[in-house]
Amino acid sequence: MNKPVKLVAGNWKMHGTSADLGEVAAVAEAARALTGRVDVALCLPATLIHRATVEVPGLSIGAQDIHMADKGAHTGDVCAAMLHDAGATLSIVGHSERRDAHREDDSCVKAKAEAALRSGLGVILCVGESDAERVSGLAVPIVTEQLRASLPREGATADGFAVAYEPIWAIGTGKVPSVEDIAEMHAALRRTLVEELGSVGQDVRILYGGSVKASNATEIFSVADVNGALVGGASLRAADFLPIVEAAAAAR
Ligand code: 13P
Repeated sequence: MNKPVKLVAGNWKMHGTSADLGEVAAVAEAARALTGRVDVALCLPATLIHRATVEVPGLSIGAQDIHMADKGAHTGDVCAAMLHDAGATLSIVGHSERRDAHREDDSCVKAKAEAALRSGLGVILCVGESDAERVSGLAVPIVTEQLRASLPREGATADGFAVAYEPIWAIGTGKVPSVEDIAEMHAALRRTLVEELGSVGQDVRILYGGSVKASNATEIFSVADVNGALVGGASLRAADFLPIVEAAAAAR
């Protein structure tokens, strides 16, 4: 199967103000030079999305979360129309930090993914196991079930929908699963996507996330069915992020 180019997305989490727009500009310039070899996106804090899309046109700018309703009495939340208005083209949904701190369950994540796709926003849907789940030996069935239960039933396309496998114990810790464990999980996620989505599931990109750095990116990108990365800490500075982007472009 001919896979699309890899997607490398940065997740700035709750970091960054307008003082950091220079980093966005540096990523945009490098991404432009790699057009057609790798897709690049930055998922910024909601407060920065509009400024980034105005001041740095041409880079895919995403959100880190989206509400499932079109509008309404949801204090502090942001809906699809607002993200479109700000210039975002995609959103992360179901990040483990939101599943945990905001008690988002699979059905909530699924509704968010469907709301985003319905509105024409791309989606990066996150799944991943805890440390205890990995130690139990049941990570693969647990994560594939999580994917099945949070998967949007409508609107998923190979261009506009990606899955990110992010083991919770690897996020921000410097720990990374073995390439064998990444390969096993990505193969299982691929099987699940094909079972659930048919031929679209064959081409949906499956990203790996959790302590991706310049020093491990090439090895991670060499694993079958790793179609990109979702990068946290190493996406905050262009100097750390761009070597990962270049590794993805070279891995194609
Ligand atoms: P780190 O790259 O900082 O481990 O974070 C990964 C992540 O949570 C991306 O969404």
